[in-house]
Order: sequence, then C-alpha cells, then structure tokens
Amino acid sequence: MQQLYCNQIQRVSINAGPRNEQLYEITRELLNPDLNYVNIRNACAALLNFFCGITGFDPEDKQNQEHCSTAAGLAVSPYAAMSCITDMMRTRNFMMGIQDAILSRRQQYPRDPVLVFYAGTGPFASLLIPLTTVFTPDQLQMVLVDINPISTACVQRIVEDLALQPYVKAIETADATQYKIPEQYQPDILLTETMKAGLLKEPQFTICAHLLPQCKKDPILIPESIAVGLCISRNKNKELSEKKSLASLIRLDRELFDQSLVAQDALKRILEGVLVQFPDDLLDNQHKIVLETSIRIFRAHQLKHNESGLTIPVLLNSFLQECHPLSTWRFRYRISSEPYFEMSKE
Ligand SMILES: C[S@@+](CC[C@H](N)C(=O)[O-])C[C@H]1O[C@@H](n2cnc3c(N)ncnc32)[C@H](O)[C@@H]1O
Repeated sequence: MQQLYCNQIQRVSINAGPRNEQLYEITRELLNPDLNYVNIRNACAALLNFFCGITGFDPEDKQNQEHCSTAAGLAVSPYAAMSCITDMMRTRNFMMGIQDAILSRRQQYPRDPVLVFYAGTGPFASLLIPLTTVFTPDQLQMVLVDINPISTACVQRIVEDLALQPYVKAIETADATQYKIPEQYQPDILLTETMKAGLLKEPQFTICAHLLPQCKKDPILIPESIAVGLCISRNKNKELSEKKSLASLIRLDRELFDQSLVAQDALKRILEGVLVQFPDDLLDNQHKIVLETSIRIFRAHQLKHNESGLTIPVLLNSFLQECHPLSTWRFRYRISSEPYFEMSKE
C-alpha cells in the first residue's frame, strides 16, 4: 500500500511560479521513499530557508523566541516551532504519513476534498504546505490554527505569496484546547504535533482530548498513536544498551476518546496512575530508568527509538538514586502548564 502511494507523487500545476517550483523540488526529495540521509538533511535545510525567505522570519527577534504558557501545556515559541523542521526524520516521516493519509481518505471518499485540520502550525505550517505541490485544491483543503499570532501571520504570508488561497478554508489564531470546531471545518484528518518526548511539557494530549470528541466524520488522527512506556536501560558498551520494558504508561490514539467503556478505563488508568513494580535485584548505578516514546504517524510511517527528538529516551535521572530500594511506585500523568508524570511511592 505504502509503495503504491509513494509512486503516485506528481507535480500539480495549479501554481506554476518559480517559488512553487522550488517548493515542489524540496517536497519531492522529502517524499522520496529511498532513504538518503544527506538528501533529507539538505531538503530540510532548504525548506527552512525557503520559508524564512518568504516570511522574512528573524530568528534573532526576541518576540519570536517567547514561549506562551497555557493551562494544558507550553506553546513553544515561533522560533522553536520553526526549528522543528531540522528534526529531519520527523519532518520527512510526518510528511510521507500525511500524504498517505490523504490518499487513503481519497480512496474512501473519492469525490470530496480531504480536509486537514492542523492544530499548532508553527510559523510555516511546514508539515502540510509542501503537499500543495502534489495535491490540487479539489483533493486537499486545510484549516490552519495556532495560538501564537506571530505564527498565524507568517502562515498567512506564505499562503498569499504562494497563492495557496484555494487550499485554505481558514487561518485562525486560537487555543486548540478551547476551540469549538465549526460544522464547515469538520476534519477528515486531525493533525497535531504539539509534543515533546514522553508527552512532557506540551499540550498534545489535551488538544486531542478536546478536539477528537467534536469530530463527526471519523477522522484519521495524525499521529495515529503515541505510546509512552517506562523502561530500564543499561549500557553494555558505547553502542549497545540492554532495555527492559516495565510498563506502558500512555497510548494516545483516537480510540482513547471514543467514549466506550474500554476507552474510559484506559483514560482513568492514565490519569489516576499506573502502578509499576521495580525489580530491586536488577538495579544498580549502571541502570537508568527512562521514558520511551514511540510514534506511529500513519500506518507504516513511524518514528522509532532515537530516530527523532520526539522519540529520544527521557532519563528519570535522580529517581533511581533517590528512591532505592524502589519497590512499587505510581506514575500518574498530570496535565498542567507543563504536563509531567507525578511519581509517588505506594
Ligand atoms: C512543536 S511546534 C510544531 C510546529 C509545526 N507543527 C511543525 O511541526 O513544524 C508546536 C506549535 O503548536 C502551537 N501550539 C501549542 N499549543 C497550542 C494550542 N493550545 N493551540 C494552538 N496552537 C498551539 C505552538 O504555538 C507551536 O507553533
């Protein structure tokens, strides 16, 4: 299925300006199924330059570096959001996954354009705007939302400069954790990448929890699934480490918010906490306790261990030293201005 989709990459010619052409060349490289790290890195750097050139975005400007705090997590600054492009496997795999999700939805509903609701675009809506070079407005429509007005102003500039208005239903400055989805913006695909490894600090969880129950068209959620687990890892030598999984703490997917009894139980387990029994005998100073994150973007498109900043292990550093002997602990996901895991001894 994946190969079939990737072979379908074609330049669409509704906008034939030199900038659209340049964007197509970058996009083609990022959607290329043959893995070439140098090419991907260069394409991500070119994409960043491309958007900076259009918007005149100044990374040194202090305003572009200010984070914004909300009750459900940190909205990172436009500068930090922009920098995500250079997390190259993240950018490439998301873009490929979104492309396949659009194609899959079109197979299901061939007559209608696919509406992507993008919550947390950053200043460049960089995971979606490039796909306007391979889909027509009859195939792809978008609603672009960010809490930061600097970001939405940049996105507006990009849309105007590239004449992408036919693709765009709306650009809105709004908090996605409070947003009420109007009937005409009901998504086929709900896209949000508002997270750090371990689902810490940023509001991905609450954005999904707030938006998904409002969706009526059974949308594809991207990422389809984010799993956070607790592991013990031990370095064997410089390259190799042993890893032992201790517990699954969160699986964030569409089903978690479908109101079923199973979903209610799963949600309760996350928010009330997961009990973890530590094997005392296994632990010494060579062992580390870490949060591991794995991300399925769409079907075969994933981000595996260490492949991206989103899937690096998060070391619960002092935990092991301070709490030894460890026995049984509760790990509870807490939504706050910087979501975190509260750890308490049972
Ligand atoms: C990690 S950046 C990702 C940017 C972009 N999606 C990308 O992948 O390159 C997260 C973005 O989400 C926005 N954001 C965070 N919380 C938000 C919220 N509650 N509502 C709307 N946007 C939010 C931030 O302002 C930031 O631009």
